[in-house]
Amino acid sequence: MTTSTSNLFKPIKIGNVTVKHRVAHLPTTRTRGSADFIPTDLIKQYYTDRATTGALLITEATLLSLNQGIYANVPGIWNEKQSAAWKQIVDSVHEAGGKIALQLWALGRVGTAKLLKEHGLPLTGVSPIYEHEKAEKEAIEAGNPIQELTLDQINDLIYNQYPNAIKLADKAGFDFIELHAANGYLFEQFIHPGTNERTDKYGGKSIENRARFFFDVVDHLSTIIDPSKLAVRLSPLNEFQVPYVNPTAEEDYSYIVEGLQKRADEGKGIAFIDIVDERYNPDGSIKSQTVEFVDKIWKGPLVKGGSYTYDNENWKVINDVANADDRTLIGFGRHFIANPDLPERIKSGHALNEYDRSTFYNNSNYGYNTYPFFGQEGVEHDPEQKNVVGKALA
Ligand code: PHB
Repeated sequence: MTTSTSNLFKPIKIGNVTVKHRVAHLPTTRTRGSADFIPTDLIKQYYTDRATTGALLITEATLLSLNQGIYANVPGIWNEKQSAAWKQIVDSVHEAGGKIALQLWALGRVGTAKLLKEHGLPLTGVSPIYEHEKAEKEAIEAGNPIQELTLDQINDLIYNQYPNAIKLADKAGFDFIELHAANGYLFEQFIHPGTNERTDKYGGKSIENRARFFFDVVDHLSTIIDPSKLAVRLSPLNEFQVPYVNPTAEEDYSYIVEGLQKRADEGKGIAFIDIVDERYNPDGSIKSQTVEFVDKIWKGPLVKGGSYTYDNENWKVINDVANADDRTLIGFGRHFIANPDLPERIKSGHALNEYDRSTFYNNSNYGYNTYPFFGQEGVEHDPEQKNVVGKALA
């Protein structure tokens, strides 16, 4: 079977939305927001370009409030201005033919203590455990040592902050809203036994307790928006921003995915699971642990991504994965950054632009909207674009 006839290029229904094919854009932090966390014209161009081939785009992680952690120049969604700016992006993506999910983000303990202090906000974590000594030193120097989230603060997240953000995202017209429950951020800090030493109902040995915050949020949000628009990103075998790979990952995430499937069976969503599926080690060998147990439990749409490369002939690996069932989408981060027309290049067998990692996190248009579409080679990475920064859309 060739790439163009594989499942990859068949439409797929997700919730109430039909996506034209199964090559998706994964969330990737790009720091092209304005200084006051508003999406910019550069961000609009980035997603619009990538919508022209009809993909499902999952946005960069987007802060749901300031007090759940801050990084500079990332976009947020806690006020009307941000919602209005995102609406311009969503409308433009839809006009170009794509679909778009907002990824909702709370940083918890890995937020920047100094930036929080500048906003008069505390650095909070599930438990008062720093990511590493450097983070501890910076927090102490900033006069903002980490504090354990109180039950009142947890309730505020479940009943005020997440609902506020999700209503604003819904108002902006996003097709889906993805809860970022991966990669060592707030939800995973609750789930992972190495970052949760709480002794109340949100902590302790049992996964029922460590997953309670996640399900409390999912269940409450499902009463606020159509749950068929809700999605989640999970990374059971994550090594980033956690002290070690969760030794009870399979048990913990089986519980979580079973809980999601049970809700789906009852007609309470969710749209899709976006799973960090890192099956390769950097040396090219295949990891002994996999997240394939998720495939067995979850029956709905599944976005898989993390380590798909194109160093195999005719995209054999992704075709095989997409053809193994009729519900899998293949997600790309780095290759989609460097190729605005990635799905079309995969379909047509065109070579890819190479990505330049050194430009991933700057604040200018250089290395952002400077990658050519196929056939436009020669105009890439104009150094002038280093002087171009985004203008807030609202
Ligand atoms: C990052 O900004 O480094 C980052 C953000 C979200 C992720 C992973 C990494 O899921």
